[in-house]
Amino acid sequence: MALLDQIEPLKQSALAELRDAADSAALEQARVNYLGSHGKFTALMKQLGGLTKEEKPAAGKAINTAKAELEAALADRRSELELKAALPKEPADFTLPGHRRILGKLHPLTQVTEDIVRSFRKIGFAVADGPEVEDEYHCFDALNTPADHPARDTQDTFYLLNDEAETPKAKGDPQLLTLNPQLLLRTHTSSVQVRVMEKQQPPVRIIVPGRVYRRDNADTTHNPTFQQVEGLYVDRDVTVGDLKGTVEFVFKELMGSETRIRFRPHYFSYTEPSFEIDFSSSLTRKMGKEWLEIAGCGMVHPQVFENVGYDPEIWTGWAFGFGIERIAMIRYGINDIRLFYENDVRFLRQF
Ligand code: DAH
Repeated sequence: MALLDQIEPLKQSALAELRDAADSAALEQARVNYLGSHGKFTALMKQLGGLTKEEKPAAGKAINTAKAELEAALADRRSELELKAALPKEPADFTLPGHRRILGKLHPLTQVTEDIVRSFRKIGFAVADGPEVEDEYHCFDALNTPADHPARDTQDTFYLLNDEAETPKAKGDPQLLTLNPQLLLRTHTSSVQVRVMEKQQPPVRIIVPGRVYRRDNADTTHNPTFQQVEGLYVDRDVTVGDLKGTVEFVFKELMGSETRIRFRPHYFSYTEPSFEIDFSSSLTRKMGKEWLEIAGCGMVHPQVFENVGYDPEIWTGWAFGFGIERIAMIRYGINDIRLFYENDVRFLRQF
């Protein structure tokens, strides 16, 4: 049969095979069968060379047209099959319930902190903040706790290298020391009392939640870093009664309305008189105790007011500080403080 006459039937069978290909593998097979280097259509093209000069133009033209048609059919079928593969195999049922996203939760310590802050906000306290890397002056000296004070031993901490402050010259020169103060990780949030009072005039009504550091070994009730909330109230004619009323209000909010508190005399160098606060509720009884110690507090020492430039003849105030972990442990009945820091979701999920 003349070459020209073979083109049309071969093209028809190629088109049929391409169009009928059920998947991309079948389509590739059809392409190889006809258009591959050993394919039937390719073979036809190879025969062109053997034709006479007269036959060549018509046959060449017919072959090229047919080839273009086959390539177009191949591309069409390929995109049809790709679309088919991308579509869902089964029809979607839009009435099925969706996949609910699992919501994360706040860490129990964050939850307790937020509750404490919320209670204090109700009675007009604002949240203040201060640096965790603190200087010795704000952490101790300004709080009436000079370097030789025994209270420094109970709050030993991590000191940061500060070469300039360490030089004998700086040590002998108080002015140089204020320029290059000895830095440490703050042992309590009480340092922020000083920072706030240095910057603003009374009245002051703040609470300070924040992380603190001590040179303590970790055990069930201690950790080298933990969190505190500090409170400070300065105005005219502030009394211990105001302090007690405020603490009672907040603890009833936090621990339930039947919560009772009591003050025991204590010593802090930055308050006079000073107290420790115990509280009693169904939670303490669950832990086998009527009273549990929960915070330290007192009336701001006149020397602290002097240090920040407040006139102690005019201004009075109280301050307190307590540990957030301790409150969270009592509230949730947790017996090991370290659980808060392990970030085990099996523990955290419970709150
Ligand atoms: N800073 C004390 C501590 O870390 C707690 C404290 C006691 C804070 C008495 C106060 C206060 O503001 O008046 O143990």
